[in-house]
Amino acid sequence: MSETASPVPTSLSQEAEILAEILAALGKRLIVLVGMMGAGKSTIGRRLAARLNLPFVDADNEIETAAGMTIPEIFELHGEPDFRDGEARVIARLLDSGPAVLATGGGSFMREETRRRVGEKAVSIWLKADSDVILRRVKRRSDRPLLQTADPAATVNRLLGEREPFYRHADITIASRDVPHDRIVDECIEALHARLSGTAGKQSADAMSAVR
Ligand code: S3P
Repeated sequence: MSETASPVPTSLSQEAEILAEILAALGKRLIVLVGMMGAGKSTIGRRLAARLNLPFVDADNEIETAAGMTIPEIFELHGEPDFRDGEARVIARLLDSGPAVLATGGGSFMREETRRRVGEKAVSIWLKADSDVILRRVKRRSDRPLLQTADPAATVNRLLGEREPFYRHADITIASRDVPHDRIVDECIEALHARLSGTAGKQSADAMSAVR
C-alpha cells in the first residue's frame, strides 16, 4: 500500500460514524433481541454484534452452560416453571455485563421482572415474524420442547397470540422475513440509530444503502 492511502469512501465513513454514535449512546447498555422461536434472534444477533464490534451472547446457551444440561433435558427433568426461573436469573446476570448483543429465549419476555430489567439496562428489538415464517424455520429442528405437540402450527399460533402483546413492549420492532440477513441487520442499525440519537432518518438510510 502506498503512503498516501486513498481516502476512505464517504459512505463507509458515514457507516462507521453511525456505528460509533450507536455505541456511544448505548454506553453500558445491551441490545436485547426478543421474539418468537425461529424469529432469527441468534442469527441476526450474531451479525449485529459483529457489525458493532460487540460480544454476542445467547441466553439459551448460557442457561444450558449454567445448568450443565440441554434445554430439552431441563424441561424434562425440572419442568417449565423451573426453566423459567433459571432463565430469568441468567438474563438478569447477563444484563449486568454489558455492553453486548443478547439473544433471549422466546418465552423470557413474558416475565414482568425481565421486561423491567431489559427496559433499564438495554435497548430491545422485537424481531417480529409471522407464523408461516416461524413454522418453516422451526420444523428443521426438534430442540424446542414447547413445539413437540400434535399440532405445532396451532401451538405457534396460540403462543403468538399470547406473546405478541408483550413483545410489543420492546423499544424497536423489525419485521423478520425471508430476505438476506444483512438487510435485517441494516434495518436494526438504522432503527437503533434513530432511537438512540434521534437524528437518523433519511440521512442514515441513504448512508446505509450506499454501502450495501
Ligand atoms: C422457548 C424458546 C427457546 C428456548 C425454550 C423455550 C419459548 O428459545 O428458550 O425452548 O418459550 O419460546 P428460542 O426462542 O431461542 O428458540
